Amino acid sequence: MPSPLIERAEKHDYQKLFLHDLNWSRPDQPPVTVEYDGQHITATNVSQYRGIRVWVVDQTPDSRLEAELDRHLARSSTDRIVIFHDEHEQVWRWPVRRASGNTTTTRLSRHRHRTGDTDPRFANKLDVIRLPFDQTLDANTVLTKVRQAFDVEAHNETKHASKLMARLYAAMEKAYPTSVDPKVQDHEISVTLARILFLMFGDDTEMWRENLFQDFILEHTATDGTDIGSKLTALFAYLDTEPEHRTGERTEFDGFRYVNGRIFTERVTLPVLNSEFRAAVLDACDRDWKTISPAIFGSMFQSVRDAETRRQLGEHYTSEENILKTLNPLFLDELRADLAHIRTLGKYEAGKLNKLRDKIGRIRYMDPACGCGNFIIVAYRELRDLELAILERLREIDIAKGKTGEGDRKLFANLDLKVSLDHFYGIEIDEWPARIAETAMFLIDRQCDLKLTASLGLALDRLPIKKQPTIRGGNALTLDWAAVCPPTADTVVAGNPPFLGHATRTDAQAQELRAAWGKNDISRLDYVTGWHAKALTYFAGRHGRFAFVTTNSITQGDPVPHLFGPIFQAGWRIRFAHRTFPWTSEATGKAAVHCVIVGFTNQSDSDKPVLFDHTADTNTAGRRVRGINAYLVDAPNVFVTKRSAPLVAGLPETTFGNMPRDEGNLIVTPEQYQEVHADPVARTYLRPFIGAEELLHGKERWCLWLTNLDPADLSRSSLLRKRVDAVREFRLKSSAASTRQMAATPHLFGQRPALHTKPYLVIPGVSSELREFYPVLRVEPHVSASNLTFTASDPSGFLFAIISSSMFMTWQATVGGRLESRLRFSNTIVWNNLPLPDIDQRTRDNIITAGHNVELERAEHPTATLAQLYRTEAMPTNLRMAHDRLDRLVDKAFAASDHPTLAERQRVLFKRYEELTAPLLAQRPSARRGRA
Ligand SMILES: C[S@@+](CC[C@H](N)C(=O)[O-])C[C@H]1O[C@@H](n2cnc3c(N)ncnc32)[C@H](O)[C@@H]1O
Repeated sequence: MPSPLIERAEKHDYQKLFLHDLNWSRPDQPPVTVEYDGQHITATNVSQYRGIRVWVVDQTPDSRLEAELDRHLARSSTDRIVIFHDEHEQVWRWPVRRASGNTTTTRLSRHRHRTGDTDPRFANKLDVIRLPFDQTLDANTVLTKVRQAFDVEAHNETKHASKLMARLYAAMEKAYPTSVDPKVQDHEISVTLARILFLMFGDDTEMWRENLFQDFILEHTATDGTDIGSKLTALFAYLDTEPEHRTGERTEFDGFRYVNGRIFTERVTLPVLNSEFRAAVLDACDRDWKTISPAIFGSMFQSVRDAETRRQLGEHYTSEENILKTLNPLFLDELRADLAHIRTLGKYEAGKLNKLRDKIGRIRYMDPACGCGNFIIVAYRELRDLELAILERLREIDIAKGKTGEGDRKLFANLDLKVSLDHFYGIEIDEWPARIAETAMFLIDRQCDLKLTASLGLALDRLPIKKQPTIRGGNALTLDWAAVCPPTADTVVAGNPPFLGHATRTDAQAQELRAAWGKNDISRLDYVTGWHAKALTYFAGRHGRFAFVTTNSITQGDPVPHLFGPIFQAGWRIRFAHRTFPWTSEATGKAAVHCVIVGFTNQSDSDKPVLFDHTADTNTAGRRVRGINAYLVDAPNVFVTKRSAPLVAGLPETTFGNMPRDEGNLIVTPEQYQEVHADPVARTYLRPFIGAEELLHGKERWCLWLTNLDPADLSRSSLLRKRVDAVREFRLKSSAASTRQMAATPHLFGQRPALHTKPYLVIPGVSSELREFYPVLRVEPHVSASNLTFTASDPSGFLFAIISSSMFMTWQATVGGRLESRLRFSNTIVWNNLPLPDIDQRTRDNIITAGHNVELERAEHPTATLAQLYRTEAMPTNLRMAHDRLDRLVDKAFAASDHPTLAERQRVLFKRYEELTAPLLAQRPSARRGRA
């Protein structure tokens, strides 16, 4: 049964609908009539509520007339629902506002209801804007309701569109004979889906008569779907045929245009399809594709192509939010600020506006790992929006000068837009996304044109396609970027190149990385840094800007000087940076990838760099800071490099744990313990053996510590003998000479740097980044520490206290390397460089006492493991308080404020590090530091 609200709407009794059923108020405006190119159109105000007005037009005009009317209505009603209707359908239009940088753009959303359609979503929308009859609401509450009903959520759009495309994909997949090579099949299905998408877009964006493609399927293909494959094959060929090569006779394809631009060039002969596919096409045609952002095509196509990624929709693709995080501070915000400034210039405004248009027309944009083109799509759309804002302002200026009416219309005759598709470039190694990118760029162009029509009444005809972006298929690390997009002073490069750690990249990729950097030693540099190297070569000797979304590992640990050193030395500085933020993934149970975005410039503009922090309470606008260093801190521009002894006198040394190199033969697991313990000889050599797992999770392991081995014991214990023999054999077989040498002493651990005669500290080599503190443990000297730990003698407790402080944790997390996302302690980079301030004896004693108190609080929980004690959400209160007291003392020693933020701790650490290292660097004339 149709909803009573729909019944009322279908009778076109909108006034009763709003006044009686939805409880809105009486209208307050007279009718508005506008004229355009000899046509008239009248809108009647049927209702309103606190200035939010409802207008009804009893016709469905073309978009120019509609835009003209909307402009007039906007003068009296900022927030308005405009309903256009005829006997078959009604279209409800509502301006959706989107904030982007400092500006807000508006696009008219369109909600279509066909008479007789029982789709409950339309009734739901009406229900949402129903107001209580016994209560007066304020304007904001009503606006929220209307937005809830009519602002279309991009995310849901993606999901819905993906579902429709997935259905098409599945239906086609079934129809393919099994003899077809799966790669060919996948390629052909993907090409076909991109074309169908283009045709549905054409239906909804006035590329030709509305619903021409839908009607073609309805009227010219058999309902059982058997001929739809051949009909589409023929239609695709028609769309790629220039009019002069057509026969001129009337055909079922009449009305379709010659498209050009490679979308329909490749000949694909579709298999015999079926009614399921035909129904899926018709259902997909039913949705309004006009509002779908082509920037989502990447994720949409990925999701339809394989089930696994369908589940993880969006995971591999950069969201629009993250794209704008990159493009806004790199160049768009600056252009928007220029526009805002020019608008204050009075009589000089028009001239400056034209200059700004020229400037954005000179910009060339390249994404050298463009995938389906989402970065270039968004960049294009934003620049077109800017140009439109300039044109709108120029028009206002002319109107103010009295050039209205016919003169006004002529103002933009023969308008030559400055932002053009052929200013955009991409490189992509995978052929298929590169083709999607080309199609998607054409569709965003169409959407931008429709905005132009809606705003200025100008209609542009882009068919056949004449201008196209350049999307080059190929390997960005081996291609010459300048041959794809010749660099100019206005070239911008940005994207999200692939991240591959040194363990996951292939040998070929490692070789590409070496070639890009022009050196053999690429250390632990991520594959993504090849794009930085190529950008340096590309811009060499020129002004430019570039920014990449990357894994945050490029700003941590050992790789930092290797990457940022050459960048700074080449005269680049950081223009903006988004500090670490998690990459949103819908996949459950997957470790989050952590990213940063760093943008560089080599221009000597006076703009201070902008730093964006993404901690829970500062996920907001960026801060202008004096400088941003390679660790993404607004602090002195220093590199923390390996050091063999502590930088500061008085800091105890830390050393590696003991490395067995024994294939497990000197280690005793819990399962083996009984047997070894039962051997009266072997038992005397048993010692607890502690690695990171044992330390953090309280697990137990032992080792056979045979430094004082009585050789006779080997003959007394077959267990001992067997194990020692096995170690010798294993070492002898090794390809490493150093290991073979160790076979001469098979009873000993391969390396034994951690020998202690007094209680000592064990530091786990890796600890979760989610813990607030780095947990270390004091153990008795008979305990052996493994090579997955570091050890230190710490008779006073000073080291324990310092390493247990938040200041140390900040240093560790900022300059230390990572294993996946976990923190990796190192003595050479982290510990030896810890820039401890001068600490007087009294403060030192207090810090030591505070450290002891932490140990005492831990001791209150004898059965809890360190991992349990340091779970952030469940840390015992007294233990946390003991750490707080310790923090206060250490922070004070560093001259930080009472409860410093992470950023403040980082600043004081780098400042102190610079103080300590500057004299050292001055002694080494060849040493160079990066430039701020
Ligand atoms: C992380 S994706 C980003 C793609 C797209 N910008 C997005 O956000 O959806 C990285 C892209 O780089 C491409 N790629 C990987 N290695 C490449 C190489 N050596 N040269 C060019 N493109 C490459 C991949 O195929 C993929 O499309």
